[in-house]
Amino acid sequence: MTYHIPVLVDEVLEFMNLKENGLYVDATLGGGGHSFAMLSKQENIRIIGFDQDQDAINYAQQRLNKYHDQVKIIKDNFKNMRTRLALEKIGYIDGALFDIGVSNYQISNPEKGFTFMADAYLDMRMDKDNPLNAETVINEYSEDQLRDIFYQYGEEKCSAHIAKSIVHHRQNERIERTSQLSTIIENSLMYLQRKHKVDSNFIKTKARIFQALRIEVNDELRILEQSLLDAIYTLKIGGRLLVISWHSLEDRIVKNLFQKESTDCICDKNLPMCICEHKAMVKIVNRKAIVPQEAEIRDNSNARSAKLRVVEKIGRI
Ligand SMILES: C[S@@+](CC[C@H](N)C(=O)[O-])C[C@H]1O[C@@H](n2cnc3c(N)ncnc32)[C@H](O)[C@@H]1O
Repeated sequence: MTYHIPVLVDEVLEFMNLKENGLYVDATLGGGGHSFAMLSKQENIRIIGFDQDQDAINYAQQRLNKYHDQVKIIKDNFKNMRTRLALEKIGYIDGALFDIGVSNYQISNPEKGFTFMADAYLDMRMDKDNPLNAETVINEYSEDQLRDIFYQYGEEKCSAHIAKSIVHHRQNERIERTSQLSTIIENSLMYLQRKHKVDSNFIKTKARIFQALRIEVNDELRILEQSLLDAIYTLKIGGRLLVISWHSLEDRIVKNLFQKESTDCICDKNLPMCICEHKAMVKIVNRKAIVPQEAEIRDNSNARSAKLRVVEKIGRI
């Protein structure tokens, strides 16, 4: 199985503006595809690569072996990037790439429990040291908590009903497998359909519920804004931050942050004068998100939802 097919590689190489002897962070190494492409394109660069998944670290280590003296691989969450860079005695970097979310390997490896397409233990942790897994969320969160997660992180309109069905079901037995959860969602939707209350696409609803659980277990959205902000602080002037997002919840966070950090005053428009003293730290390089060309989507259908946004550091360090 191919570990992961990196997306928008030409665009990443074009927008990263790689410089001789530059130091770059790949915040989400995955299979090391983007890092490999950067190392092949520009001689003498160095890369600090992060991933929270030991499988990704093992794979990337092999993939990047040819460049081992230019690469430092760190198994950690990118939310700790600034601290980890400080420990490496690195103050500033020339660019950073965040290709957020999960890799093809993670999503299609049944053992990880990310997919409803195969039966597996409800795990969904990218980092096996994470004390929270999906089985705990499903069996121990309250009905209200489950509803809120499904609604906020899955944008699922039947959230309340599905949360109720889960809580009802777990009174009889613990829900431990992806197949159990899949059946509960299906039965719950069939009930609503019989009552003519919903006309749902079962597959899409399952995908939304599984996505919501994955986001909760890995705390994907709560840490994103601060992590991107930390990356901006760490950039040298002229350095670029590139972010590839995979769904609208992620893209909204990236877009709003880039908008805010490229604006001087962020006061309420009705105020007669500025009281926030906010100063832009970056300029937006591409107003419209960059998306894969048709040919890339033809070769790799997973690429269809990827969006790349880029900012460049302009001011205060
Ligand atoms: C879409 S893949 C990256 C693929 C990579 N660009 C490549 O070319 O192969 C996302 C990777 O980011 C990792 N990841 C996601 N969130 C993370 C986080 N908060 N900290 C560290 N790694 C994270 C996942 O484990 C996964 O391996």
